[in-house]
Amino acid sequence: MDAWRFAIVSDIHIGTQRSFRFQAAWNANWQTVRQQIIDQQPEFLLVCGDMTRDGLYHRFELEQSKADLDALPFPYYAVPGNHDAGNKFSDADSSISAETVALYQSVFGTSNYSICHKNIRISVFNSLLAGSGLAEEGAMWSWLDSQVPDLESDHHLWMTHAPIYLDYFSEANKDPNDHAWYFSIDEPHRSRIFNALKASAADILFSGHIHDRRQTEHDGILFQSCPSSAFQAAFDYDGEHSSELGFMMLTVTKESCKSEFIPLAETSTLTSYGPGGNPPKALRDYSIAQEKPALDPVEQRRPE
Ligand SMILES: [Fe+2]
Ligand SMILES: [Fe+2]
Repeated sequence: MDAWRFAIVSDIHIGTQRSFRFQAAWNANWQTVRQQIIDQQPEFLLVCGDMTRDGLYHRFELEQSKADLDALPFPYYAVPGNHDAGNKFSDADSSISAETVALYQSVFGTSNYSICHKNIRISVFNSLLAGSGLAEEGAMWSWLDSQVPDLESDHHLWMTHAPIYLDYFSEANKDPNDHAWYFSIDEPHRSRIFNALKASAADILFSGHIHDRRQTEHDGILFQSCPSSAFQAAFDYDGEHSSELGFMMLTVTKESCKSEFIPLAETSTLTSYGPGGNPPKALRDYSIAQEKPALDPVEQRRPE
């Protein structure tokens, strides 16, 4: 089989000026990367989550990001991020819930699925459900545990939003009172996910969320954290990794899947408004929206 290519990007964070916050530069950076990806003529695009700034709170943002991706001249496959379907846990009205998962899936479709393309299989799951106790978590585990090696494919690639570890597999669980709780998946869920990947003969797990491009390996599986197109991580890792903005192209042959990073061609300096972090409902001030009427925070949709 001739070599062929696909693209992968994460954390594109498209927002809207009708929201209580808006980062014009993130939208502009995505439009730049979007054209760069089109210019590469990939066979498809993987998006590792956080398609929106705040789709979690606004149906319209989910619909806006989906419309943008639907207009690409090739297929794309996405997985929900915490900004699209909720944090693994949070004290600020931002946790994943049956409602947030249902809202996401009503726009983007199922969160757990597989597709096959040429000689690869790609399997997708929402790691942010792990430990939530939701019925949707049970469905996610059932789906993960049922995956087996695909004898028709040369490579089994996986995708989720939150990485199952940051630096090394046996690292300690994160303290829920430390900001680091946010970034990765704790035990026992980490091992359960890993065992499911292993049982399915996984080659690579792609993830996003930390806005930091890094590749590690554990027991024969590559863990590839993918770059964001929107903004760089606010924290600094060691020099082996890079939070440089951009996307990756994967070249697939029978023997290998090799990645190449392509940096964002031009970083926007457009300005923004509104709070960062995960503000509670009481601090989401829609009166400052730059486009009126503002989004309806109750109906989670754009007013008519
Ligand atoms: Fe993100
Ligand atoms: Fe994220």
